[in-house]
Amino acid sequence: MSEAVRQPVLAANWKMFKGPEATRAFLDRFMRLYPAHSDRSVVFFPAAISLSAFLAARSDRDDLEVGIQDVHTEVEGAYTGAVSAAMAAEAKLGWGLAGHSERRRDFGDEDATVGTKLGRLLEAGLRPILCVGETLEERRAGRLEEVLSRQMESVLDGLASSGCGPWHDKVLAYEPVWAIGTGETATPRDAAEAHGLIREGLARRASDEQAATAAILYGGSVKPDNIEALLAVDGVDGVLVGGASLDPDSFAQICLAGSDR
Ligand code: PGA
Repeated sequence: MSEAVRQPVLAANWKMFKGPEATRAFLDRFMRLYPAHSDRSVVFFPAAISLSAFLAARSDRDDLEVGIQDVHTEVEGAYTGAVSAAMAAEAKLGWGLAGHSERRRDFGDEDATVGTKLGRLLEAGLRPILCVGETLEERRAGRLEEVLSRQMESVLDGLASSGCGPWHDKVLAYEPVWAIGTGETATPRDAAEAHGLIREGLARRASDEQAATAAILYGGSVKPDNIEALLAVDGVDGVLVGGASLDPDSFAQICLAGSDR
């Protein structure tokens, strides 16, 4: 755990799952299984259409924090189907994802665009989680370090040219693309190596202090049966969970990891 990270972050990325009805049903059960814990942060990224149902159903459980999965690079405008970081802030959300590999792969988000989106989230007062990670081909070709540093460098350049920022208290997620939704998980050794490389990149580009205090989450087939091992890895400050966060029982188990319940 890095110095400035007071507590682990356990985040649920629901992607394009769960409309308002399923969101209410999830919370109904999850809130009974997971009582508030002051030693960890639990953050949900529901589909945009289910955000207000989430906020209403969580009621006074504001320990269950909420974020937006993606924002547009502009504050407002004629962009059918899109939402902005300013709107997410107005809706009382606290967090935003930037650069998830599915946005990069399916929607063509390039590093520079990701940098601008990160800037918009900061400008609106939201806490961004920057996602980075290599594909299987890149890993097999021995390009892990090059890919991670290219992604971070170009995102940080994009952020600088957006005129937004600064980005204090950095939160990143290392999500190897080959481990997302595949059932394959990075070994604790893989995660330790990649998290170390990300921190080295931050030290070069920002400062030793920023590198030491950044929170770096691991994402990619996190499940109740591998959560303890992942959280025990030096430099892993939490997790970003897709598939296993859709089931209230399994996500509650993940959120309760290492607690006396
Ligand atoms: P997964 O997804 O847990 O289903 O692998 C993780 C993510 O995409 O954030």
